[in-house]
Amino acid sequence: MTSMRTLPQSSPTDETPLVALRNLRVGMPAPDGGAPVIVLDGVDLTIAKGEIVGLVGESGSGKSMMALSMIGLVPPPVRVLSGSIKLEGRELIGLPERQWRSTRGGTVGMVFQDPMTGLNPVRSVGALLTESVRRHQRVDNRRALEIAEKALLAVGVPAARERLSAYPHQLSGGLRQRVMIALALVNDPKVIIADEPTTALDATIQAQILDLLRDRLHAAGGLMITHDLGVAADICDRIAVIYHGRIVEEGPTADVLRRPRHPYTAGLLAAVPHFGSRGSRLEPIPGQPPGPTRERAACSFQPRCKHARQACALAPALVASGPERRVACHNPIEEAAR
Ligand SMILES: Nc1ncnc2c1ncn2[C@@H]1O[C@H](COP(=O)(O)OP(=O)(O)O)[C@@H](O)[C@H]1O
Ligand code: SF4
Ligand SMILES: [Mg+2]
Repeated sequence: MTSMRTLPQSSPTDETPLVALRNLRVGMPAPDGGAPVIVLDGVDLTIAKGEIVGLVGESGSGKSMMALSMIGLVPPPVRVLSGSIKLEGRELIGLPERQWRSTRGGTVGMVFQDPMTGLNPVRSVGALLTESVRRHQRVDNRRALEIAEKALLAVGVPAARERLSAYPHQLSGGLRQRVMIALALVNDPKVIIADEPTTALDATIQAQILDLLRDRLHAAGGLMITHDLGVAADICDRIAVIYHGRIVEEGPTADVLRRPRHPYTAGLLAAVPHFGSRGSRLEPIPGQPPGPTRERAACSFQPRCKHARQACALAPALVASGPERRVACHNPIEEAAR
């Protein structure tokens, strides 16, 4: 379902979203040739220029698959089945690999959770950075080295020049993550995707990395994937909550966190110390999130939902629910019940 007008591919206007995902379906063909196993089921999401959208949900809900779809790196046998991903009006789905390579690390910068998977261990920091610069910018090696050093300094790497000859395994976890951020940012991307960028770091380093990302994400625009609602509250303008491969709630951060409408969002909030109602005990959501092979005819949250009713036997659509809010629920939480 899309009401977007079609924009010319080559001339983005101010109204063109930075990123527009429309009805994105990602999955893999079933081994027996039956219905495909779906990991993202009709995702619609828009990111405006300079906006940070937080993608929040439990493990296995499809957050990383969404990020990987946006950089053309969905791991086979999983693949994009249908839908659209536009970057400033330009369709990315179906791009030949050569063009994906110029998008990835160039127009789109990606920060992964684990720097060891995001950084090639047999390349020095300098080689990683200069190779990326030279792939995306017409500069000689000397200039590429200058750009690389500047990128390291910009992310707070001390003794940046000396670090250029270091290998990822010679650096601390915090420094490695800074190097990965430098690599994501070295070509001034238009979009930054950060997938759980601080999960593997200890608390002090987390705060430093988040400060760094906040500024840079705002300067471009991007997607901040996190299972930590505190992180989302801290740096995101809008939040999208994902469950079983579907966006179930979306809206401005403060509004969603103060007035969740989807029972799943409310459940996530009740389970964390800062947001759970003051003085009362934290309540984990009962049960487990569904695996990708679970049936999708009913609302996927039904087995864990206190608000379930008969209508929930049919999966609800994501619909407008007040200004700038969308929710997919037959019985959303009302103001009075909160
Ligand atoms: N390489 C893969 N091959 C097949 N299925 C995968 C692969 N990676 C993830 N999945 C499945 O896709 C779903 C979404 O995973 P993922 O996007 O990694 O979740 P999240 O990042 O939210 O934890 C999960 O059900 C997971 O089992
Ligand atoms: S649709 Fe029904 S089961 Fe699903 S979250 Fe809403 S109330 Fe709960
Ligand atoms: Mg993930």
